[in-house]
Amino acid sequence: MLQVIVLGSAAGGGFPQWNCNCALCRRARAGDPKVRRRTQSSLAVSSGDGKWFLLNASPDLRKQIDDNPDLHPDPEVTRHSPIMGAVLTNADVDHIAGLLNLRESQPLAVYATPRVHAVLDRNTVYRVLNPAYVDRRPLELERRTELAGKDGIVNGLAIEPFSVPGKIALYLEDPSLDNLGSAAEDTIALKVTERATGKSFFYVPACASMPPDLAERLSGADLVFFDGTVWKDDEMIATRTGKKTGGRMGHMHLAGKDGSVAAFAGLGVKRKVFVHINNTNPVLAEDSPERAFVEAAGWEVGYDGMRVTL
Ligand code: MLT
Ligand code: MN
Ligand code: ZN
Repeated sequence: MLQVIVLGSAAGGGFPQWNCNCALCRRARAGDPKVRRRTQSSLAVSSGDGKWFLLNASPDLRKQIDDNPDLHPDPEVTRHSPIMGAVLTNADVDHIAGLLNLRESQPLAVYATPRVHAVLDRNTVYRVLNPAYVDRRPLELERRTELAGKDGIVNGLAIEPFSVPGKIALYLEDPSLDNLGSAAEDTIALKVTERATGKSFFYVPACASMPPDLAERLSGADLVFFDGTVWKDDEMIATRTGKKTGGRMGHMHLAGKDGSVAAFAGLGVKRKVFVHINNTNPVLAEDSPERAFVEAAGWEVGYDGMRVTL
């Protein structure tokens, strides 16, 4: 049984974002029941054996563990965690800062591409993840990897990492270089497969466009969690919350002819869930026409604590 929990469904900054007074952040902060609060981007996945891998480690991980009893320590053991490790899809703050919560000498395995590992290696604060307890394991693009805990015991899940259109982490951008100095390994997506059943899903939390090879890969999938950052490409500019387009931030927008809803229309994906949703995206409001539009197109808007079993 392949189990997924959406630990955090918001993009970087969360919802409401600490310094934002956009219309949606105001509603969320006021406790409007149609506009649920959300923590930053992460999933947890298990093959039903009580052991979990994090897919990205959000700055809100401490709250996410607290909110999800599946991730609590075994009550019989003084120090324990059902979290076996984490897989990172890029080096953005919203996907790596949570590793710092996992620093209490707990055996873990952290999987990432060599480019993303190099970012952690250069940031000395990550040395709090004591190498005696925490393995850093490289992922190779297009190569299936069995997830295993620090003890080397596989937990029944395999991942296939693949590159998607995107960019290097914000704080590493070099405007003098082509695509800001980004390489294929900087933004990956995952196909997660349960060995025993062959069931699988895709996790694509950041994606700048839908080239034909990606569309083909996702075709017919049972379940895809996809980048839901912005509704419109110029949304941050229009809401006066920022200067960048979605595309400039490495995120495909949802709406319109060149948006993700249209791009998925012919792909036959059985269940489609938006994650990594920015606080300016109107689909966050359950009473918005944009929410009605995506739901009519067969999409679900991910929320914290959402569970999917395949
Ligand atoms: C993004 O997804 O664009 C980044 O997480 C932005 C950020 O680092 O805040
Ligand atoms: Mn992000
Ligand atoms: Zn906002």
